Parts: sequence; structure tokens; C-alpha cells
Amino acid sequence: MNKSSIGICAVFLALSSLAAAAGAVFCQDQFLFSPGHESITVAFRQFSSLIVGDWQHYGRLFITWQPALFRQIFFWTIVSLPLVFLLHYLSIGPKSFSHQKGEVFYFGVFSRIVHWIAAVFFSLLVLTGLTMVFGKLFGGGAFVRSARYIHIISALIFAVDAPIMFLIWVKDMLPMPYDLKWFLIMGGYLSRAKRPVPAGRFNAGQKIWFWLSTLGGGFMAWTGYQMFSFDVQTEALRFAAIVHNFLGAALAGFFIIHLYMSLFAIKGSLQSMLTGYKSLEEVEILHSRYKAG
Ligand code: HEM
Repeated sequence: MNKSSIGICAVFLALSSLAAAAGAVFCQDQFLFSPGHESITVAFRQFSSLIVGDWQHYGRLFITWQPALFRQIFFWTIVSLPLVFLLHYLSIGPKSFSHQKGEVFYFGVFSRIVHWIAAVFFSLLVLTGLTMVFGKLFGGGAFVRSARYIHIISALIFAVDAPIMFLIWVKDMLPMPYDLKWFLIMGGYLSRAKRPVPAGRFNAGQKIWFWLSTLGGGFMAWTGYQMFSFDVQTEALRFAAIVHNFLGAALAGFFIIHLYMSLFAIKGSLQSMLTGYKSLEEVEILHSRYKAG
């Protein structure tokens, strides 16, 4: 690890600790014990009556979907995607690129810090979200309640970080005509050949992940807040829960895709998000339309 990576890690750790400390202070202010200032039991009773009280519209959808369908969607998302990627890794394998031809500076210090903050707190959101979805499996109780608190704190930090990430990268994430071609050849990931792929600074797959994680993250924050505050009409509350679950499953799925792509499918990808540099060969092949500078 070179000096700049160590520096980034240090700044990142300091920022994360500050954020976590701020979150803890926030918690003490009874914020996390909402809805209102009642106990969890009272809140749970209110929630149950909302769900079983009225069978109109989203109520019926909610009752039918929430327990069975969503758990299944989440289950198959987290089981099937890793299996597909294992198959891809074993049959086609990762792509690796030489650094002999030179390197391109790709990610500035600030964007790397903002990215890693998103990475840590979004990972926590996914893990704690799944803990709540499969709460019964973990025996419920204090463990799942703690997961909920961590979920809320992580959401608050992510909600501040994601808009910054959005502003840093939005210009390079706008759709381009050649993105369609990228989809038609599945980004070249189904072949071992190193043929130039039509993509700018970011490819079409990365663009989808960007829009989903930032705008989708915004919707998650909004619907999550409605469920947390209880300060909306019953219909809206149910709608919020359905959107939160569907979008949550999509985000968890794309998160797994992102992890596979950046940790396994492209060798050296992780390094680029630590040092800021990508191999020139990788840029020429995987981002053939990118003009640095
Ligand atoms: C532990 C989790 C994560 C790891 C290891 C990781 C790793 C990486 C790496 C290595 C890259 C550079 C990819 C390349 O250009 O070669 C990258 C890019 C990026 N990451 Fe992450 N990331 C993580 C989580 C996240 C999260 C949670 C978000 C957003 C919520 C995110 C958003 C992005 C975006 C928008 C890019 C640029 C486009 C792309 O490569 O997809 N990452 N990440």
C-alpha cells in the first residue's frame, strides 16, 4: 500500500468514527425509540393494527406479499446471484490486465473517500436489512432490534454521503448511445477475449448501479423514514413498505453484482479504488471510449 492509500484509509477511518459517534449521540436522544416516545411493544401493537385493521388496497397486498413473497425474493437474490457468479468465475474466469504499458489516474482522493464511506454504511444497511427480513431465523429480540438501530444510523450517514457521490460522478454516468452496444455484448464478460468494449469512463452496468444506488437510495431513505416516523396515512405507509422491500431486494442484488465485479471479475479493480490508478491496458479494453484529462 502506498502513502496516498494509507492517508485515505486514515481519513476514512477518522470520518467513520466521527459519524458513528454522532449517530450514537443521536440515538441517546430517544430518536431511535420512536415511533413517538412509546415503548417498542406499544409501537408494535400500533403497527399490527395498521396491518390487519383494514383490508383495502395496499393492506391486502401488504398482508399477502410482505411475509412470504418478499422473504422469498430476498432469499433467492442472495443465493442465486453468488451461484451464477461462481459459475462464471469457474467457467470464464476473471479478466486481468498488465500495468507494464502504464497507468491512468482514475479516482481522485475525495471520490475514493466518499465511495468508501458509501461502501461501509451501505454494506451495513444490506446486512442489517437482511437481519430484519429474516428476523425469525435469528430468534428476534435484542439482536434484531440492534440491527434496526444500526440500520437507521447507517441510513442517516448514507443519506448524507450518497448525494455527494451523485454530484461527483453524475456527469460521467449519463447514458450514451454506445451503452446499448455494451448491453448487447454483455460487456464482454461472457468471453475470455480481451476485445475493446464500448464504454466511456464508466460502462453501462456501472451506470445502472450508480443510478440505482443514488436515486434508489433516496427512495429507500424516503420510504424508510415514513415507516420509521409512522407520520403518514395507512395507505401511504403500506405503499412505502412495499416499495422499500422491492427496491431493497433490487439494491441487494446489484450490491452483490458490484462486489463480484470489483472484487473478483476484474483483477486490480479494488486496487484502483484504493490507489486511484487503473492499468492503461484495462482502460483501453474496458473503457475504450474514455478520453482521460
Ligand atoms: C464493500 C463494498 C464495496 C466495494 C468492495 C466496492 C468496490 C468498488 C471498486 C473497486 C470500484 C471501482 C470499479 C472500477 O471502476 O473498476 C467501485 C466503483 C464504484 N462503486 Fe463501489 N464498492 C463497494 C460498495 C459500493 C457501494 C455500497 C456503492 C454505492 C452505494 C458503490 C458505488 C460505486 C460506484 C457508483 C462506482 C463507480 C462505478 C462502478 O464501478 O460501478 N460501491 N467500487
